[in-house]
Amino acid sequence: MSKKHTFIDLFCGVGGIRIAMEQNDFECVFSSDINEECQKTYFKNFDEMPKGDITKIKEKDIPKHDILCAGFPCQPFSAAGKQLGFEDTRGTLFFEICRIIKAKSPKVILLENVKNLVYHDKGNTLKVILATLESLGYFVDTKILNAADFGIPQSRERIIIVASKNKKFDFSKLATKKKPQLKDFLDKNGQFDFLKEDEYTLINPKIRKKQLSGLIFAGYRNKKIRTAGVRPGTEHLSRVHRQCNRIHSVFGTFPTLNSQESSGRFFILTEENKVRRLTLNECWRIMGFPENYQKISSQSEQYKQLGNSVCIPMISAVSLQIKKQFFKDKQ
Ligand SMILES: C[S@@+](CC[C@H](N)C(=O)[O-])C[C@H]1O[C@@H](n2cnc3c(N)ncnc32)[C@H](O)[C@@H]1O
Repeated sequence: MSKKHTFIDLFCGVGGIRIAMEQNDFECVFSSDINEECQKTYFKNFDEMPKGDITKIKEKDIPKHDILCAGFPCQPFSAAGKQLGFEDTRGTLFFEICRIIKAKSPKVILLENVKNLVYHDKGNTLKVILATLESLGYFVDTKILNAADFGIPQSRERIIIVASKNKKFDFSKLATKKKPQLKDFLDKNGQFDFLKEDEYTLINPKIRKKQLSGLIFAGYRNKKIRTAGVRPGTEHLSRVHRQCNRIHSVFGTFPTLNSQESSGRFFILTEENKVRRLTLNECWRIMGFPENYQKISSQSEQYKQLGNSVCIPMISAVSLQIKKQFFKDKQ
């Protein structure tokens, strides 16, 4: 029998968390995702078809496991303005996670979500999540981590929640790295989608500044200015402020690849001073997916899948520390 410590992969998407956990020798014993395209991609890569809707899965059909992992959807927290209490939170998918925790009592829980969870409902939602995990008998800690601090040239901030039965997780032990530059992650050759010079405006290189996040804003696409609802005199800003119009220098990091941008409007200013889109493969690469990862869905599905996924090296760093801090003695 395998001596590896086990995990379950809830809301597994295309398996970003699974890859990170397997990199540290944990073994997956169960996975679930409701989305058929994600399921097909997951099957292609891991030879395991995830089960579907978690709300329909009985606890007895989930095997015992050491770690429960879940990059649970953030939509349940978008009930803007409502004062959500614990009773309301029961209706969300977080409650499904709690149901499984109650039944299976895993030693460790690893949750991932958007940074905005911290501010949702004036901090109440996160408070309820943490209090609920504590009421189930766990020591809980959270931290906002940025993919750019884990060797990936993408400024992608996510909240990580780690809960354990016997002590708090020590986030200070995570090994971070200097922020890399996007240029070192790009394809040298290929069919690139360049913009013509009259399709964009670059800002003067002398006033381009690297932000703390590593981003260097280099210019914007000359799209039609949106005037509806825009304050007079600020029309020019509307095209600059839209993420899909912004152009970033390859000497810095790239902003968060978000799942709503399913047409892949991610623009960079290259070392040769040309403007082009990131290719789909480059997008997967700056999520930290291995080169041999099998991508089988349509382009727009792939943009959604990768935008919904995790930065693998960041989760791998957390998973390594989970192993060292909670499973050191046996593994
Ligand atoms: C933020 S994504 C997680 C992605 C994953 N961490 C990865 O690395 O690809 C959330 C996932 O939850 C799935 N989901 C939403 N509702 C679900 C449900 N009721 N049961 C199972 N999965 C669900 C979505 O299809 C989506 O893939």
